[in-house]
Amino acid sequence: MTQDELKKAVGWAALEYVKPGTIVGVGTGSTASHFIDALGTIKNQIEGAVSSSEASTEKLKNQGIPIFDCNEVDSLDIYVDGADEINGYMHMIKGGGAALTREKIIAAVAKKFICVIDESKQVDMLGKFPLPVEVIPMARSYVARELVKLGGTPVYRQNVVTDNGNVILDVHNLVILDPVALENKINGIAGVVTVGLFANRSADVVLVGTADGVKTIAE
Ligand code: 5RP
Repeated sequence: MTQDELKKAVGWAALEYVKPGTIVGVGTGSTASHFIDALGTIKNQIEGAVSSSEASTEKLKNQGIPIFDCNEVDSLDIYVDGADEINGYMHMIKGGGAALTREKIIAAVAKKFICVIDESKQVDMLGKFPLPVEVIPMARSYVARELVKLGGTPVYRQNVVTDNGNVILDVHNLVILDPVALENKINGIAGVVTVGLFANRSADVVLVGTADGVKTIAE
């Protein structure tokens, strides 16, 4: 099976977690995009979606799914999204698609984070995938110097402006032994909007697309 077929399988498998009459939190990326296709088939059974990016909003609208502003909802039953890396504690690196800030907000609002991945995303230790950090533009150089002090090699993601008008630094060569501590440390740097470490708020359920079918990992 191709990687995209594995992503499709988990995107569709996530439908099982959608409860009728609810507003669904929807992530960003190619795996989340398969989930949106699946969600479109039951659009009459849900109230709508809160979306983590302009790209997902566009796709949800094309499926005829009503979009809710995050400020309009008190809580979400589930949030379905992919990840760039995930470890055995369900800590993740996210933000390959530059949507990390809105993703982290919706993950915080949601009761359950359903992470949908193909098996290539599973790792023992996070950090091989460069860690995305969303930064206020005027703080770019300062934040980059601080990230170097933490042992990383930040690379400015060229020609990318996030949906919030900010820039992304991708931090290479990090050895992430303690994801919670590193998330807190990077969040404390002035000018950082969001770090793509999802360790304080990890996933609750992971659906893994494998050659042998979809495997479920739950807490
Ligand atoms: C976007 C993300 C995505 O979830 C992550 O990049 C995985 O994407 P894909 O499903 O295309 O592999 O965090 O900001």
